Amino acid sequence: MTDTLYRQLANELIADIESGRWQSYSRLPSIRELAKSRNVSINTVIKALHFLEAKGFVTVKHKSGYYVSSQSRTAVVRPPDTRSTSPLKPVEVTLPKLFQDIMVRGAAFDILPSAERSTPSNNLIILNRHIGRATRQQSNIKANYYDNPLGDETLRQQISLQYRERYLRLDPDEICITSGCQNAIFMALMSTCQPGDNVAVESPAFYGVLQLLESLGLNIIEIPSHPDSGIDVEALTAAARRWSIKALVITPSFATPSGACIPRDNCQQIIEIANQKDIVIIEDDIYGELGFQSQLSPIKSLDSDNRVILCGSFSKCLSRDLRIGWIIGGQWHTKIIQLKLVTLLASNQAQQQGLASYLAEGCFRRHLISFRQTLQLQRDQLIDTLNQYWPDSIRYHIPEGGLAIWVQLPAHINTANWYFDLIDQGITLTPGMLFSAENQFKNYLRLSFNRPIIPARKNAIRKLAKMFEMSKFKS
Ligand SMILES: Cc1ncc(COP(=O)(O)O)c(C=O)c1O
Repeated sequence: MTDTLYRQLANELIADIESGRWQSYSRLPSIRELAKSRNVSINTVIKALHFLEAKGFVTVKHKSGYYVSSQSRTAVVRPPDTRSTSPLKPVEVTLPKLFQDIMVRGAAFDILPSAERSTPSNNLIILNRHIGRATRQQSNIKANYYDNPLGDETLRQQISLQYRERYLRLDPDEICITSGCQNAIFMALMSTCQPGDNVAVESPAFYGVLQLLESLGLNIIEIPSHPDSGIDVEALTAAARRWSIKALVITPSFATPSGACIPRDNCQQIIEIANQKDIVIIEDDIYGELGFQSQLSPIKSLDSDNRVILCGSFSKCLSRDLRIGWIIGGQWHTKIIQLKLVTLLASNQAQQQGLASYLAEGCFRRHLISFRQTLQLQRDQLIDTLNQYWPDSIRYHIPEGGLAIWVQLPAHINTANWYFDLIDQGITLTPGMLFSAENQFKNYLRLSFNRPIIPARKNAIRKLAKMFEMSKFKS
């Protein structure tokens, strides 16, 4: 086999992909079929496919074959332009009422909450069986005492084992169980910041963090973030030079809403800036388990100064209703435990034990394997729906994990203006303005693929597209 032969075949296959002969996500013919139809050896085909994989044109799925990867759509799908137009400076956080409304509805990850099925999934039945068993077996002693504020030891061991798979070694005693990730971020900010301190966030940022900053009287510095590489390290460096920054809140794996992952080199640079400028890093790892192909190691694994506070929860990868999360407090561990003690006293013991046995028996691992596949499929369905109904003028980035797509509409549109009209029709929008305290991203929308794109949801998306096309929006 000569080198030119496999490159020639690779170029032919790239041309086929780019011409649309093979669409994104479609399966390529088998190696044997390709060898036969192109009249080349099996080895030449394999080498050409490896070349395409390295270039990001195809991805391989175990026992299934080669698929045209989503990145090959970049000719059609341009990533949203998330460069910030506002100068980087600390500002006080005063948020509009819409933030409260959407959080109370708690349906921000489903465009059509009424389409939700009422029957529990098999996985939920299994989880509840474990929790039910732990509840039934609870002794009087347990019921008459609060748990250790750190939380159930077996659960902490299981969380530690889970992180080991992502190359982070944690002693279970470094972990404290919380009531979800929002509670963990709250404790991290409370333990490290004073009112009036400056906190840097990636922009667009999770609206729950913006609300915490407002409630705690903290100033925000919004650092631009790009869907391909997350927070802009140069902009962060410049801001840290100019301003005193107490804490940085980042989501290195599949940030919401951008879907961005921070490359390892950038994580290293962020740690270096934090070490130099004495910045606390609050890592929100809530989507850490939701990569379709691979799970990234948390930034905490690079933490030489023990200055990263790692926060996570089971809300996005298992159940929001569990209200079980964790915090690894680093230097602030003792202060955080004290804060948990005085604010929560303890977490529910039977629920933690049930969850721990669900994890220990491998149910979570099995659930994650199928959940990631389901999410990937639902992402593809959402993209197909967007391509079918929405005009070319929208831009979006295709995330390789997480729960949502960040969509940019033409500049004159304010997506928040659609919110209340659509609520009356049972449609819940997540407008872009929710992701900034500085009035950015008005023409953006977060669309989730957390639920299957069944016809009713497809219809809701079509309705949005129609409103958009007919300019029935107020701007
Ligand atoms: C990025 C991010 N962090 C934290 C939270 C809060 O999670 P929990 O339900 O565990 O409190 C959410 C929920 O939407 C989120 O998207």
